[in-house]
Amino acid sequence: MTIISDNITKAVHILESEDLVAIPTETVYGLAGNIYSDKAIRKIFEVKRRPLFNPLIVHLHSIEKLDAIVSDIPPKAQLLAEAFWPGSLTLVLKKKSSVPDIITAGKETVAVRIPNHPVALELLEKLSFPLAAPSANPFNCVSPTKAIHVENYFKNSIRMVLEGGDCKNGLESTIIGFENGEPLIYRLGSISIEEIEDVVGKIDVKNKSKDSPDAPGMLAKHYAPKTKIYLTDNLDSFVKKYENKRIGVLSFSKSVSASNIEQIEILSKSEDLKEAASKLYGALHSLDALNLDMIVAQRFPDYGLGKSINDRLERATK
Ligand code: TXA
Ligand code: MG
Repeated sequence: MTIISDNITKAVHILESEDLVAIPTETVYGLAGNIYSDKAIRKIFEVKRRPLFNPLIVHLHSIEKLDAIVSDIPPKAQLLAEAFWPGSLTLVLKKKSSVPDIITAGKETVAVRIPNHPVALELLEKLSFPLAAPSANPFNCVSPTKAIHVENYFKNSIRMVLEGGDCKNGLESTIIGFENGEPLIYRLGSISIEEIEDVVGKIDVKNKSKDSPDAPGMLAKHYAPKTKIYLTDNLDSFVKKYENKRIGVLSFSKSVSASNIEQIEILSKSEDLKEAASKLYGALHSLDALNLDMIVAQRFPDYGLGKSINDRLERATK
């Protein structure tokens, strides 16, 4: 029996009874629970097999609810919130003591965002508490962009996936923290660096190579399919080198043909990076289901969402 349902009232009941519901957002599906319920939050970590040192993102219905959660909003955070909320931007800000330590892994900061998805917003409006929601995938696996991805991962451990269609953006939110009042990108994501810089000026990406629990989304290995994945600048020559392997190809816009290619996923024939980002995880889920010897992915252009896509592909190869 399916656990996918579009019944928002049922989702409200489950969440009010301190249990979990997977919810749609415009980035990826999240595994949601009441931030004030120790029982629900522990279950999130358990179901995902996620280490407790990896903090969660708090999802709010509107900016008026922000004051209950955070104690200090730097001017540039205010500008970013006005520019991108509701939307795929997560801000890491100083937390109020009312936010349970388990949400923030004991940190003084809390990650927050307002999702831009009608179903998520309707649900949040009906609840008297915010929702903690990490991506609804087991730790280190590819994030879900369709309700069925979540069902495949968790049908034996959660009661409901709230149907919200395919995630429009398809990549996790961009996470921004503040050091001495200045913004710093903790995780590349659905909003490009260029769009962020249009609002706050030049911004750096926090030291990528360091395995810092500051943003475990930045851990070197993450977002990986079961199948070994390789990243290349030249699909044709890479595929030729592995004649005896059964290969799945992930291409930006062009087709490649060779007898050892079992399936090719083309992310955007018109080379639209937004379209490619929205299809990336769906393509990885499809290729991974075929039990091939390897997935060969093309490196994307190093600007706009191409940077975020390359970031995820690089982590998947580790
Ligand atoms: O698009 C998204 O952000 C999705 C949807 C469901 O909203 N959520 C998501 O959550 O990607 P998750 O848990 O998979 O990734 C959250 C990232 C983690 O890398 C975590 O370490 C980081 O946010 N994070 C959370 N709180 C933090 C904090 N206080 N300081 C630094 N990083 C934090
Ligand atoms: Mg995640």
